[in-house]
Amino acid sequence: MSSLLPVYKKWGITPVKAKGAWLTAADGKEYLDFTSGIGVLNLGHGHEEVMEEVQAQLAKFWHTSNLFQLPIQEEVASQLALLSGLDKVFFCNSGAEANEAALKLARRATGKTNIITCRQSFHGRTFAAMAATGQSSIHTGFGPILEGFSYLPFNDLDAFEKEMDDSTAAVLVEVIQGEGGVIPGTESFLAGLTKLCQKHDALLIIDEVQTGNGRTGYPFAYLKYEHVNPDIVTTAKGLGNGLPIGAVMAREGLDQAFSAGVHGSTFGGNPISLAASKAVVAKMADETFLAEVREKSAWFMEELKKLAERTSVIKEIRGDGFMIGLEMQTDSAPYIMSLQEKNLLTLTAGANVVRLLPPLTVTKEELSIALEKISEVCEIESLTL
Ligand SMILES: Cc1ncc(COP(=O)(O)O)c(C=O)c1O
Repeated sequence: MSSLLPVYKKWGITPVKAKGAWLTAADGKEYLDFTSGIGVLNLGHGHEEVMEEVQAQLAKFWHTSNLFQLPIQEEVASQLALLSGLDKVFFCNSGAEANEAALKLARRATGKTNIITCRQSFHGRTFAAMAATGQSSIHTGFGPILEGFSYLPFNDLDAFEKEMDDSTAAVLVEVIQGEGGVIPGTESFLAGLTKLCQKHDALLIIDEVQTGNGRTGYPFAYLKYEHVNPDIVTTAKGLGNGLPIGAVMAREGLDQAFSAGVHGSTFGGNPISLAASKAVVAKMADETFLAEVREKSAWFMEELKKLAERTSVIKEIRGDGFMIGLEMQTDSAPYIMSLQEKNLLTLTAGANVVRLLPPLTVTKEELSIALEKISEVCEIESLTL
């Protein structure tokens, strides 16, 4: 019997090693891993440059504290500022922590309390991140939920126009709702939120925990759109390619609200995670690498759409870059299990969605293997319907 609290429904797979897009289990099975540790291993398992940076840092020292001068923090922060177009960076350990910090920063900087987020959003499991999450099932049993949060329909700019006023402190939004079902935000919605926030002196916070770090073929997904200008961006997951790290990027001026002693984290910005991030942000600055990600993922998406036309079991293919959702006509769980039996690892998201998050380094050959397996499973399911 397990001594772990059963908050995760575990698969019967025990990993023993992993490299690139492949994971080997204790029973010798080789899986094509399109979960990437739930959108974390954007550069794949055991990425050489990440490994070299981490090993070099391990050999020097592991932890001091944020009281010391740590040039690696400055280096990664300035690279993140450059990539995001924002100015100041705070490091923490996870996506939920990044959102907690962003929400605290927004309240303190604006002096206002009202935060608007979207229905079906996901922002994390801590109290403020949970309150920001627009899914009642995630709140159940944890009340009282932190006050000051309201939820509006995603992609419905009119609803935001009606609800927002000068008491709005911030809007928190994902560019593509990940856990909610891989639902892309429209450019007009996100650009409209930028304008509404400016009008009401509210802050636009974009949660790039899952969409960031190259996942959509851009360093951050909002960078695809010219008129989407966040005041604060949060990220985590892919930023450490498997080591725990989160970051909040904020525009100049907001740092006044986060002076010494106002917020902090013992482990946030630790040199080991930052060594991994150093390799990740270097890749994010490599336009040739990102162009390849966009090209490979567009091809894969097209192939999936062709497949969807051939089968009756897929309702819709959605997403951008390597953040892809296959909305099935029925519950996605049996498809995920059938794919797993064929050695392809995938995830759920929202209702009826099979989510594919392959590493950005995946090859066309590996994508073709996945297409074949998905096609086989769809054919079997079509026959049994
Ligand atoms: C968009 C988004 N925000 C926040 C989180 C929470 O991140 P973490 O699990 O690192 O706290 C997630 C995790 O799935 C996420 O997808």
